[in-house]
Amino acid sequence: MISDTTKSHKNLKGDAMKAVGRRDAIKGILAGSTILGAGSLLETAVASDSELIGIQEGASGKAYLGQHQPRPLPFDPTKLKGISEKLIRSHWENNYGGAVKALNAVEQRLGAAMKDKDLPAYVYGDLKREELVRTGSVVLHEFYFANLGGDGKASGKVVDLIKQWFGTYEQWEAEFKRTANALSGGSGWAILAYNAHMGEVHNYWAWDHMHNAPMSHPLLVLDMYEHAYHMDYGAAAAKYVDAFAQNVNWDEVNRRAEMLAKK
Ligand SMILES: [Fe+2]
Repeated sequence: MISDTTKSHKNLKGDAMKAVGRRDAIKGILAGSTILGAGSLLETAVASDSELIGIQEGASGKAYLGQHQPRPLPFDPTKLKGISEKLIRSHWENNYGGAVKALNAVEQRLGAAMKDKDLPAYVYGDLKREELVRTGSVVLHEFYFANLGGDGKASGKVVDLIKQWFGTYEQWEAEFKRTANALSGGSGWAILAYNAHMGEVHNYWAWDHMHNAPMSHPLLVLDMYEHAYHMDYGAAAAKYVDAFAQNVNWDEVNRRAEMLAKK
């Protein structure tokens, strides 16, 4: 019986593994250069723990560099309507910036831990969980800040897409806000996304940085962690959701939709 994990690994490998057997691929890594490319790392993903440790011993790879840099705010934080500069700067520096630093630290610790033969897999798993948390935080924050700074007036082809999947723009907006407000008082993200596997568009509810519908590509991202609004609105999250809507950069949302159409 093939486990779900094994299945996902098989999907990741794709056509490349049809041409070369698993054992041959691993042998190739062992005999090859010390620089592991993306394909090689995918091959290591199917190896057992003992094989992994053997392969990675003394090796380095880009996955462990931990050199991510924060992206600058793509708008003037003094110009947002209903969201203060102080909040935005604090959010960008402390929460997003903190996630970038943490991701870098985790990647480097992962690389170092791979050289420790005696490290139990479950301890390594704690670091892998942190890698997932921090990656989700970095990516979603970058989408969030990039879709702010506009006039909030929806336009362009993405409006047609929204109408196609939600009937009317107003109905989509009502559901997007309801999804966001369902996360008030805690953590999470409301995400309008195109699901490439299903070929559908939905407003997804995400309880934390790790919650994402598989194969969903964000079009519009709203941060519903309390740190995104508490400084300005206290517990009145719905007012923040309304303020967010007034600052959406729909040009960026359209750009994302067009990028997906080209894939
Ligand atoms: Fe945030």
